[in-house]
Amino acid sequence: MLSPDSAAVVRATLPAVGGALDEITARFYGTMFAEQTELLDGLFNRGNQASGGQRRALAGSIAAFAQALLADPEARPDALLSRIAHKHAALGVTEDQYTIVHKYLFRAIAEVLGEAVTPQVAAAWDEVYWLMAGALIAQEARLYQEAQVDPRHPWRQWTVVERREETPDVVSFLLRPADEDPAPPARAGQYVSVRMRMPDGIHQVRQYSLSGAPGDQLRRVTVKRVASLSDAPEGEMSTQLHRTVGAGDELTLSSPFGDVVLDEADSPLLLISAGIGCTPMVGMLEHLAATGATRPVTVLHADRSPADHALLSDIHRLVSSLPAARAEFWYEQNAAAEPGAHSGLMDLKGLNLSADTGVYLCGSLPFMRTVRAQLIQSGVPAHHIRYEVFGPDLWLAHTEA
Ligand SMILES: Cc1cc2nc3c(=O)[nH]c(=O)nc-3n(C[C@H](O)[C@H](O)[C@H](O)COP(=O)(O)OP(=O)(O)OC[C@H]3O[C@@H](n4cnc5c(N)ncnc54)[C@H](O)[C@@H]3O)c2cc1C
Ligand code: HEM
Repeated sequence: MLSPDSAAVVRATLPAVGGALDEITARFYGTMFAEQTELLDGLFNRGNQASGGQRRALAGSIAAFAQALLADPEARPDALLSRIAHKHAALGVTEDQYTIVHKYLFRAIAEVLGEAVTPQVAAAWDEVYWLMAGALIAQEARLYQEAQVDPRHPWRQWTVVERREETPDVVSFLLRPADEDPAPPARAGQYVSVRMRMPDGIHQVRQYSLSGAPGDQLRRVTVKRVASLSDAPEGEMSTQLHRTVGAGDELTLSSPFGDVVLDEADSPLLLISAGIGCTPMVGMLEHLAATGATRPVTVLHADRSPADHALLSDIHRLVSSLPAARAEFWYEQNAAAEPGAHSGLMDLKGLNLSADTGVYLCGSLPFMRTVRAQLIQSGVPAHHIRYEVFGPDLWLAHTEA
């Protein structure tokens, strides 16, 4: 609980700290990586560092947490913390690393805000940091325990049983544990981290949703190659996976984590995705089919063209195997190639939803923002809409705070 004295100081300094958070977090990562070089080898994602995405997600989460504490000193914004804790658990973040992050974060705050950081101000923000860290450490300890993962050794070797070309830009890898022990439990909608050595010798980690049935001994991930666009380089892990990994190779994976998981209710389901955002939805459909689910399911997907639509044949197979499922597709190009598909961008007008429909969204942030607004306008309660972001979450801090 945030003490009343600290709450007053945090309230008074939130505009100054909040306004400088971008500069603070840039300086924080700069000095931390300069002194703790091992953190960039196999933990932090250097693409997100270069784009500033991770910095903004960290700053947004701290500001959102502080605001929630001011509104209610005992608050624990669950959605915010749970997403971060699952991401941390999929990376093997350990409790002692919170002391390292604290050191560099508070050094950066003092350097950026200078004399404004009196001992009283530092103490109040220290309390916020440790409340947040404490809540995350507790959630992460529970996640590690449930998954029976030792955070100091979170990685396991998997053998690629098959590589399948899905579209010109997307491949799937079918995997089984290299030691042939049982696959760890997974829930529909979860992701794994993949850890790989890059050509310069540095290890990188990225997350990939499970696109196969979570109960299977074989696991599937489906990866879109991120091409170079104007000044931005090609994505390093996706390109490396596409160029170098095939049947018989080994990949290094974490256990499955992720809090956007399929509920086990009987209520109607609406699965909405765009582009490679179809992967967790196909994992959910596989689970529904494998468990003989009878609930009504509507699958809506938008893509560039039918030829770019990854896992389309899986979606057809799964929708026809479920007793009350249907699918509708929108394509920007060549929609005529897919019978019944719409031409253009997804449009939810005319969608008839019952009040208890549970909605799952996955796609780019602009896509999800537009769709979420349309759903809310047509009467879907915000808390029925769950979404997965394929990158640092720059949205959550604004919608859940
Ligand atoms: C929960 C979750 C689930 C996911 N599931 C899937 C999935 O099922 N399938 C899938 O394909 N992906 C998925 N992703 C995305 C995936 O984790 C990777 O982000 C994606 O593969 C790109 O990684 P990369 O290493 O290829 O690109 P990166 O090298 O990380 O680059 C990412 C972007 O940053 C840009 N960038 C990098 N460096 C710079 C620079 N110096 N200057 C400017 N821009 C730069 C790149 O151009 C690129 O656009 C998921 C992500 C999350 C968080
Ligand atoms: C109170 C302290 C911390 C906060 C508030 C915090 C917050 C966050 C947030 C908001 C994200 C992005 C989640 C997402 O949307 O994907 C994240 C990711 C991450 N965090 Fe933390 N974190 C904290 C401590 C730590 C510690 C101690 C470590 C380990 C050194 C760590 C390592 C990482 C890594 C490696 C990522 C993924 C980065 C990426 O993929 O770009 N964090 N954290």
